[in-house]
Amino acid sequence: MCGIVGYIGNRQALPILVESLKRLEYRGYDSAGVSVIDRELFNSKAAGRITELEKRLPDAPGRMGIAHTRWATHGRPSDRNAHPFTDCSGRISLVHNGIIENHRELRAGLESRGHRFTSETDTETVVHLVEENYKGDLRAAVSETVRHLRGSLALAVVHLSEPDRIVVARDESPLVIGLGQDENFVASDLPALLKYTRRVIYLQNREVAVIRRDGVGLESFEGEPVERDIATVDWSPEDTEKGGYQHFMLKEIYEQPRAILESLIGRIPGLELDIGGIDKEDFDSVKIVACGTSFHAGLVGKYVLEQLTGLPVIVEAASEYRYSANTRYSPLMVLVSQSGESADTLQAAREARRRGSRTLAITNVVGSSITREVDSVLYTRAGPEIGVAATKTFTSQLIALYLLGMAMGKHRGTLLPSQLQELIDGLRKLPRDVQSVLDNRGAIKLTAEWMAQARDVFFIGRNVHYPTALEGALKLKEISYIHAEGLPAGELKHGPNALLTAETPVVAIAIRDHTYDKMLSNIGEVSARSAPVIAIGLENDRELKKASDLTLYVPEVRPVLSPVPVITTLQLLAYHVALIRGCEIDKPRNLAKSVTVE
Ligand code: M6R
Repeated sequence: MCGIVGYIGNRQALPILVESLKRLEYRGYDSAGVSVIDRELFNSKAAGRITELEKRLPDAPGRMGIAHTRWATHGRPSDRNAHPFTDCSGRISLVHNGIIENHRELRAGLESRGHRFTSETDTETVVHLVEENYKGDLRAAVSETVRHLRGSLALAVVHLSEPDRIVVARDESPLVIGLGQDENFVASDLPALLKYTRRVIYLQNREVAVIRRDGVGLESFEGEPVERDIATVDWSPEDTEKGGYQHFMLKEIYEQPRAILESLIGRIPGLELDIGGIDKEDFDSVKIVACGTSFHAGLVGKYVLEQLTGLPVIVEAASEYRYSANTRYSPLMVLVSQSGESADTLQAAREARRRGSRTLAITNVVGSSITREVDSVLYTRAGPEIGVAATKTFTSQLIALYLLGMAMGKHRGTLLPSQLQELIDGLRKLPRDVQSVLDNRGAIKLTAEWMAQARDVFFIGRNVHYPTALEGALKLKEISYIHAEGLPAGELKHGPNALLTAETPVVAIAIRDHTYDKMLSNIGEVSARSAPVIAIGLENDRELKKASDLTLYVPEVRPVLSPVPVITTLQLLAYHVALIRGCEIDKPRNLAKSVTVE
C-alpha cells in the first residue's frame, strides 16, 4: 500500500532510490516519483510503473533523497497525484504511505490561508502543513504537523535548507531505518534495504526520526527521546531476487519445500513453539481473524484445531471482526498475517486485547507491527514474499496452525501419542510431497491450457478442502482475471448449479478422506450438467479418474495435511493460466501486497 524509500550518504542517491523503490513495487504500482537534493531540489514523477519514471529521469546529482511508489487511495493514478509533493515554496518535499482521514478540513483551512494545491490527494495537505510549521527546523515542523493528522502515516520529508537530514515519522504505517557505513536508509519494508544493509531500526507508532549520514535520532511525537536496539535481519538479498525464475510467484511456489522445512526446524518433536505458554493454557474456544489468503489459512486452521484440540473455533474476516455485536471476548484470539501490517488485522488485534483476549499472531515478518500488538508471536519462516499473490506464506501459515493444533492437542490430551507421531511423520514428509507436485507440473500445464479459455471457474471441496477451494479460486482470479468462486461442494445444489454449463469448468478436490464418497456424488452432479470436471485426488485413484474429465494427482498424505500439496497444485495451475493469458503475474491490477488501509 505505497512504498517509500530514502537515502542519505556519500553515494549518488538517484540510482539507489530507484533500485530500492523497485524492490517495493509490490506495495503499489499506480505511479512513482523521486526527489533528490543537491544545490537544488530536483523532482520527477510519472503515472504507471517505476519503468515509466525511469524513462523521464535525467542524471540528477545529489547524495540524499526520497522516493515513492503509489497504490492510489485518494485521487486517481496520474502524474499530478504522484508523490513526492512539494510545498508552495518548492523547497520541501514529502512522501507518504497511509491515509490522512481529516485531510478535507485541513485542506479547506490551508486553502483559505493561501496555499496552492496541485493534486487531489490527502497527502498534499501534509506538505503544506509542514511548510506552515517550519521555523528553521524540519524535525520540529514535522513533529508539530503530525500532531494535527488523523489516520495512518509513514512520512519521509526533506528540505532544501537542511540537506544533511531526512525527517521521517510513523503512525500505523510501517517504516524501517537501515544503518550503513557513513550512509543511512529508510524504507517501508525490508526488501528495499537488504542489498545495502541488514542492520535496521524499526520505527514504532508515534515516533519521529532524524536520519543523517552519520547517525539517527529518534523521539516520540511528544518530543521524548527514544532509545531503540538495532536489529539484525536474517533474510539475504538473494531472497529478494528472482533467481532465474520468470516471476517471483513461480520462484516462491518452488521455495515451498524449503519454507515448510524452515517452519518446522527446532519445533518438533518436542513441539516447542516458544509462544509464551499459550499452547499450555486452558481455553474454551478459539477465534481466528485474518484477511485474504491468510483468512483462508485461518479457515483451514478451524478444521485442524477443532480436530486436534476438540475446541470450537470461529474464523472471522478481520475487516468484520470489530463490527461484531458479540463483544464477549474469545479466550484465545489467533491473528494471521503474512506481512504483519494489514490494517484490518492490526485493528482486530487491538480490539481483541481491549476485549480481554489472549492474542497470538502468526506472521512472517519479524518486527512487523502486529508483533507489538499481541501477547505472543509464532513466526512462519517463509522468507520474503515479493509476488503479490501469496503462495509460500500460505503453506507456511498452515504449518504454523498444524503445530499450534498439535501442541494444544498434546496439552489437552485430545491427541493420542500415536496420533501425534503420525502427524509429526506426515509433517516431516510434506516438503517431499510438495516437491513431487512441483516435479510433475507437466499435467498442470496441460490443464492450464485448457482452462485459460474459461470465463468462469468453480472450485469445490469439503472439510479442509473447502478453504483450499476458496484459496485456489482466489489465486486464479487475482492473477488471471478469470472469474472464480470457491464453494463447499455441498452448496452447489443450493443455487450455484444454475450457472453450470459445458463452458464452466469445476475444479473438485477429492482426497480419499471421510468426505470422499460425497465428493464423488457432487462430481457426478456436475458432470450431469455437462460442466467439465478437473479433479484433484490422490495418486492411483482410478475411480476419480473415471468420474472426471481431467485428473491432477498429489502424493498420498494424511488428509488433514493434504491442503498443502493440493494448494501447491492450484497455485501452479493459476500461474500457468495467467502466463498463457499474458497477465502481469507478480503485480496484478488494482492490488498491492500489504494493505495498510482499512
Ligand atoms: O499480509 P497479510 O497476510 O495480512 O495480507 C492479507 C491479504 O491482503 C493477502 O493475503 C492477500 O489476500 C494475498 N496477497 C492474496 O494472494
